[in-house]
Amino acid sequence: MSAADIPATSISFLGLGAMGQAMVTSFLETGYSITVWNRTASKADDLISKGAVRADTVAEAVAASPLVITCLWDYAVVRDVLAPAADALSGRVLVNLTNGSPDQARAMAVWAGEHGASYLDGGIMAVPPMIGQPSALILYSGDAAAFEKYRATLETLGTARYLGSDPGFAPLYDLAMLIGMYGMLMGAVQSLTMIRAAGDDPREFSASFLIPWLNAMSGSIPQYAENIQSGKHTVDVVSNLAMQAAAFPNAVQACASLGVRLDFLLPLKALMEQAVADGHRDADLSVLAELLTS
Ligand SMILES: NC(=O)c1ccc[n+]([C@@H]2O[C@H](COP(=O)([O-])OP(=O)(O)OC[C@H]3O[C@@H](n4cnc5c(N)ncnc54)[C@H](OP(=O)(O)O)[C@@H]3O)[C@@H](O)[C@H]2O)c1
Repeated sequence: MSAADIPATSISFLGLGAMGQAMVTSFLETGYSITVWNRTASKADDLISKGAVRADTVAEAVAASPLVITCLWDYAVVRDVLAPAADALSGRVLVNLTNGSPDQARAMAVWAGEHGASYLDGGIMAVPPMIGQPSALILYSGDAAAFEKYRATLETLGTARYLGSDPGFAPLYDLAMLIGMYGMLMGAVQSLTMIRAAGDDPREFSASFLIPWLNAMSGSIPQYAENIQSGKHTVDVVSNLAMQAAAFPNAVQACASLGVRLDFLLPLKALMEQAVADGHRDADLSVLAELLTS
């Protein structure tokens, strides 16, 4: 059956891991007709009992709907899974919500186009329990007409933000947000480990000290963004880099004497020292952006 002959409310979903299960459940609860496929077929059983239709093959799943969504382990798996059904993609919209890099997304868009499919790449800024709520942000980029056509459908999963026709932008924003998260959360892990190593209670420290501190310090981010956009890092500086670079070795020393590893801290110490040596004593910490791209 051609894609045009199938009701627009039909969705085919490939990949029933933790995220796929949450997404298919959300679509079912909203009343969509959904065909599912997963390598381990038994993971579909619960969803079938709630109204999903099982596809025995990927080709069968792709043929069932004009909108095909993949949420699999990585892009290599997406390619391997779709390859035997590539011809069936013609005339369909492929939305790939698998985590990948911008280059992988662009290559996937070319591949989909070669098989006659419109392509949207997606970045899921949520964990499975958040799916279906506005707090679940899902980033999309790629074919604008495909996004407009399925915007309301995709909003079922959470807030849908379209980032433009370059399919690499959804993964770019996704990965940039994850990097911000990992820097903050690994900083928290290092900090809480220090407190535990000192024999104190990380729970009380977290609630009363660390979280309010991080919330207050996140107020610096807009100024950093301004500095990084302009390339000027000496405007309205309240904590200059020379002062921060002088204090940072104390944090390194404190961890070392508590027996806490320094893997996370030493690269930052080296960057600060290099920036000071390069003459950026009066700059904001944001000046490290210039070293990161030099
Ligand atoms: N979970 C999260 O919090 C979260 C948040 C944001 C983004 N994501 C992204 O969403 C995607 C899926 O994540 P998930 O949490 O659902 O992962 P998951 O629970 O580990 O599920 C992985 C899925 O990929 C399938 N798969 C793995 N290797 C395969 C292969 N060789 N051939 C065919 N299928 C294969 C699995 O099939 P089987 O069931 O047969 O193993 C399963 O459907 C990932 O790209 C992840 O980065 C996840």
